[in-house]
Amino acid sequence: MHRRNRLFVAIGLLYGLAGGLAAIAQLAVPGALPGNLPKVHAHMMLAGFVLMTIYGIGLHVIPRFAGYPLRSERAATAQFWLANAGLPLMIAGWLARADWLVAIGGALTAAAMALFAGNLALTLRLKGPLD
Ligand code: HEM
Ligand code: HEM
Repeated sequence: MHRRNRLFVAIGLLYGLAGGLAAIAQLAVPGALPGNLPKVHAHMMLAGFVLMTIYGIGLHVIPRFAGYPLRSERAATAQFWLANAGLPLMIAGWLARADWLVAIGGALTAAAMALFAGNLALTLRLKGPLD
């Protein structure tokens, strides 16, 4: 498995742990953490744990199941850096209640999703039987 894809899965697990701890901290000591905690928790879990795991497993498994090499390893690596810059900025923006920062992070997160989608679409395009 490509190191980048293993890192995606490992980082996803770390976001899952951190998101769980953030929610538990908020329940145990309300107000212990600053900012908009439900948003931080929800996106650590969904854009962190769930999406990063889908990225790591998807980049590895989907080309292999289809029987074709991933169209662009470089695009997947760009996706890795965009995803891992975007989500921390979104989290920082919610912690600081700075929506402009969430927007910048969100644009990077969305760019990573677009690269993932385009890369997989080009990997699978016109390959195999259509019916
Ligand atoms: C580690 C175990 C988890 C704990 C202790 C936990 C705890 C919580 C708590 C206390 C809230 C309410 C936050 C609030 O409204 O103040 C919440 C909301 C939420 N949780 Fe979790 N959660 C856990 C795991 C997950 C997982 C695995 C996911 C998704 C993959 C998830 C997704 C969400 C979402 C989407 C919300 C709604 C946030 C909002 O109201 O804006 N949570 N969770
Ligand atoms: C492109 C990056 C993203 C941006 C900029 C973003 C931004 C936001 C914002 C601003 C809200 C609050 C909406 C409100 O105030 O009612 C929100 C809610 C939510 N987002 Fe995202 N999001 C992004 C990606 C994702 C992804 C990838 C997922 C799931 C895989 C997700 C799941 C949710 C959920 C479940 C809620 C509702 C829970 C809550 O209010 O916290 N988001 N998102």
